[in-house]
Amino acid sequence: MNNLYKLRRKLFPIYRNLKAVEMLKRKNNGKKLICVEIGCFKGVNAKRMLNYLNIGKLYLIDIKKYNNFENWEYVKFLEMDGIEAADKIPDGLDYVFYDLLGDYDYDSDYGKHINNYDNMYIYLDKWIPKLKVGGMMSGRYFTPRCLNDVCAIIDYVKYRTDLKLYGVSNEWWIIKE
Ligand SMILES: C[S@@+](CC[C@H](N)C(=O)[O-])C[C@H]1O[C@@H](n2cnc3c(N)ncnc32)[C@H](O)[C@@H]1O
Repeated sequence: MNNLYKLRRKLFPIYRNLKAVEMLKRKNNGKKLICVEIGCFKGVNAKRMLNYLNIGKLYLIDIKKYNNFENWEYVKFLEMDGIEAADKIPDGLDYVFYDLLGDYDYDSDYGKHINNYDNMYIYLDKWIPKLKVGGMMSGRYFTPRCLNDVCAIIDYVKYRTDLKLYGVSNEWWIIKE
């Protein structure tokens, strides 16, 4: 682990999607939420979501199984691609967190999914319709580092009067109104 990475961890220890999750919590005020994390890895962020939000059901998706989630309360793990998984999960979601990008992903087999305009657009097109009104989809790396993703997100919302895009720090989130 290099020093920059350690420093970032120290500065942002709580959530990868802190601002989005804070807004979600404020909006829903204690109601049980149905949530999804696309790219859950070992479940570090999932654990934080379970502690912070009032979760009724949390679907965790990853193309590889890095942890055994069998005994996790409220959790259902799906070992599959994040686009295919959309067809396996019921509509009416409160929150979808998209988190495929990691520093180590750049040269991995999954690199094609990351910072790829068409792929980001497909993810939005698959998952946004599954949100209930008032629901949210969010992600991180809303930065020039992932300019293709950023362009796809902006293009996806630009003619949609029912969607509102927020960007704070390096996070993005979309609310379905
Ligand atoms: C940055 S890590 C996720 C970190 C996790 N969200 C956390 O905060 O602890 C990215 C994850 O996305 C997964 N992934 C990559 N491509 C995927 C795909 N097409 N479908 C589902 N998961 C994928 C990788 O296996 C990896 O576990």
